[in-house]
Amino acid sequence: MRKPLIAGNWKMNATGETAAALARSISDQSPAYGAVDLLVCPPFCYLQAVAAVLEGGTVLWGAQNMYHEPGGAFTGEISAAMLKDCGATHVILGHSERRHVLGETDEAINKKTLAAHQAGLIPIVCVGELLSEREAGQTGAVIRRQFDRSLAGLSAELMAATVIAYEPVWAIGTGKVAAPQQAEEVHADLRRLISERYNAGAADQVRILYGGSVKPDNAAELLAQPNIDGALVGGASLKADDFLAIAAAGTLLAGDDVDRPQTR
Ligand code: PGA
Repeated sequence: MRKPLIAGNWKMNATGETAAALARSISDQSPAYGAVDLLVCPPFCYLQAVAAVLEGGTVLWGAQNMYHEPGGAFTGEISAAMLKDCGATHVILGHSERRHVLGETDEAINKKTLAAHQAGLIPIVCVGELLSEREAGQTGAVIRRQFDRSLAGLSAELMAATVIAYEPVWAIGTGKVAAPQQAEEVHADLRRLISERYNAGAADQVRILYGGSVKPDNAAELLAQPNIDGALVGGASLKADDFLAIAAAGTLLAGDDVDRPQTR
């Protein structure tokens, strides 16, 4: 049984003070959510402030990006080892804002994915189609291409340890959430693909998160899908109560694997 992962992507939000307060509030209430993994990803400059709050508890922290090189003359970049040094366990890679606003390619994301694993960080690799691609019936092809290119060169063992986030670009920050069945279709395709490219064991272990306008009122239905193993939450992760309400939906399902619907 895959343990649900509820990850908060704070994006370029918060101040030192609000970041620490948000982490504190999540941490204080976290004992009620032991059935899921909780992760927060603040901006780089607040990682240590958040780490100081979360140290010794169960809430994990990670970053929103990194560079693939181990060190050197790369002005403005942050390495995987630096993130590890800040206590990060995870790093989000290839988020749609990095792909589409900042021009990151699958090849760059692949280098980062390999470097993250090499440093012992778990990459959360994002894939997702544009609205125009969905409307043109290209969703499956786009996801497969992003998967094959962004995740090339992994062993089956590292594939199993990787987290994938399916985030349809048209659903991010728009309030337009994918219908649970729409999301489930892509998640099931991804798991089939992992089984084909690697093996059934890796496919069974890998956690595939859904992201894109996940809110307390739609989380339960999404998380009830058999191939949705958690959520990557943007806007709603900035309020502890909303983030934890999403975690609560995951907690209920985690304790209920027998009744988890196989189809919907
Ligand atoms: P959203 O963002 O929840 O605000 O739509 C999700 C994401 O970008 O990871």
